[in-house]
Amino acid sequence: MNNIYFANFKMNLTFAEIEAYVKSLKNLIDLNSNHIGLFVPFTALKQTKDILNGLSILTGAQNVHQEEAGAFTGEINAQMLKECGTDIAIVGHSERRKYFKEKDYEINKKIKQLMKYNIKVVLCIGETKEERTSGNTKKVIYTQLREALAGLYENELDNMIIAYEPVWAIGTGENATNKMIEEVSQIIRQTIKDLYNKNIAEKFPVIYGGSVTVKNIKLLSKIKNINGFLIGGASLNYNTFAEIINEKMKKTANV
Ligand code: 13P
Repeated sequence: MNNIYFANFKMNLTFAEIEAYVKSLKNLIDLNSNHIGLFVPFTALKQTKDILNGLSILTGAQNVHQEEAGAFTGEINAQMLKECGTDIAIVGHSERRKYFKEKDYEINKKIKQLMKYNIKVVLCIGETKEERTSGNTKKVIYTQLREALAGLYENELDNMIIAYEPVWAIGTGENATNKMIEEVSQIIRQTIKDLYNKNIAEKFPVIYGGSVTVKNIKLLSKIKNINGFLIGGASLNYNTFAEIINEKMKKTANV
């Protein structure tokens, strides 16, 4: 799967704003050649699904609780996401790891809940600045992946995308270099190969997130071993998001 462009709105945009966004976005991009997903706040999921009906754009959630149900005030389970029409959900975003102290074993349980309800998964992994400068990137990526994937069968990986999001690059304006992204994508594929097999490792979709903008997308699009992008800040404006998506098309058209 290539040309993946996922917009993580985080805690931004009301449904009214998302509706106006979709109305404009769909006329600016080629929905047949790209895999687009909008990761909206929980409260907008159902209505977003309704307006995306008939368009090939995935309706995404930004999180899910790891338990099936119970006394967890304020939380949302996978069944509830499914009821809203959610196609795909992010787990393990670094903001959740940082502000809500989410651990790898909880992320593993979240993935299992989502799979139970047939919701695709975007698993976010990535190192902090300190981990990178101390030479621990490989170890961190390996550990996050191994723990998040524990107990998952090979066929379940068909419904998963891994997003490499270095913590230091998120919302900072400092994106990882192409070389760094290529190296980490290689580490991800090697880990999947070690845990499963070569076949699945080669076809596994890996995307990059962290300060992707209209300015740097041209350079980032040159990376060979990734399948797309997860975009935060720059996705909040439909024009900017469309420009990012269309950069690749420009390149294809020029070949
Ligand atoms: P920014 O694009 O704002 O750096 O955010 C990236 C991200 O966290 C996407 O999930």
